[in-house]
Amino acid sequence: MTLSVAGLTIDVGGRRVVDGVDLEVGDGDRVGLIGESGSGKSLTALAILGLLPDGAEVGGSIRWDGRELVGMRDRDLAQLRGDEIGMVFQEPQTALNPIRTVGRQIAESIRIHHRDVSRADAWARAVEEARRVRLPDPESIVRRYPHQLSGGQRQRVAIAMALACRPRLLIADEPTTALDVTIQAEILDLLHQLVDEDGMSLVFITHDLAVLSQIATDAVVLDTGRVVEQGPLRTLLHSPASPVTQALLRDATATLWRPRGDA
Ligand SMILES: Nc1ncnc2c1ncn2[C@@H]1O[C@H](COP(=O)(O)OP(=O)(O)OP(=O)(O)O)[C@@H](O)[C@H]1O
Ligand SMILES: [Mg+2]
Repeated sequence: MTLSVAGLTIDVGGRRVVDGVDLEVGDGDRVGLIGESGSGKSLTALAILGLLPDGAEVGGSIRWDGRELVGMRDRDLAQLRGDEIGMVFQEPQTALNPIRTVGRQIAESIRIHHRDVSRADAWARAVEEARRVRLPDPESIVRRYPHQLSGGQRQRVAIAMALACRPRLLIADEPTTALDVTIQAEILDLLHQLVDEDGMSLVFITHDLAVLSQIATDAVVLDTGRVVEQGPLRTLLHSPASPVTQALLRDATATLWRPRGDA
């Protein structure tokens, strides 16, 4: 299944914040969406899922598996979300309900799309999904509340919820940014494995080229709502054409060379 974004525009409060973005994600592709803060990465992702904030106006075309998503009815979009396109949000808190156990939340993300699955079966599957994202002691951790988990464990829950229905495309918005470096590497490794196992496509959002080079094969560089460069990540790393990509590369290299203990 292919995602084709063409001439996407997003206006918020009369300001054009995404300005003519084109993006093509084929079966099994792993595309990075990269750019500085405020360049329009999250809004582009939210537009694909039909989750833009109230008052945001969207133009252009977003086709998924041949269907036009711009202007699609909310209930049809809701049907797609989670089932065909999964999303891990930039703020892990927004994905998780603080007053429900994580197991119930994983189970609910299954039952939204499969009403015929009993609560007991959904719970059993939630335990399996918790195991799949390598949460420790899955049978007991599913009974806990989000605040009883570490940041990395909460992100694993969010990933389990996003993938519980085995979507064909995962959109992950800065899924590791809020985590410390060791945990970041573990989560990246997990995503890598799951994307491989399920053979799904990936749109990975980040401002960090070093992180992106570990998971994506292609990249689209955004600057103030416009695509300034795109192509194989290898090419971008070797010969970045735009000043934005060059700056991102300098930032990434600086991280690599930063001595231990230097924050
Ligand atoms: N709800 C909103 N209301 C008004 N403006 C918004 C809203 N959400 C985002 N914007 C503006 O739209 C632009 C793009 O925002 P977006 O969140 O897509 O950036 P981003 O690339 O994801 O940045 P970051 O790396 O900080 O997450 C920014 O200028 C932002 O201030
Ligand atoms: Mg963002």
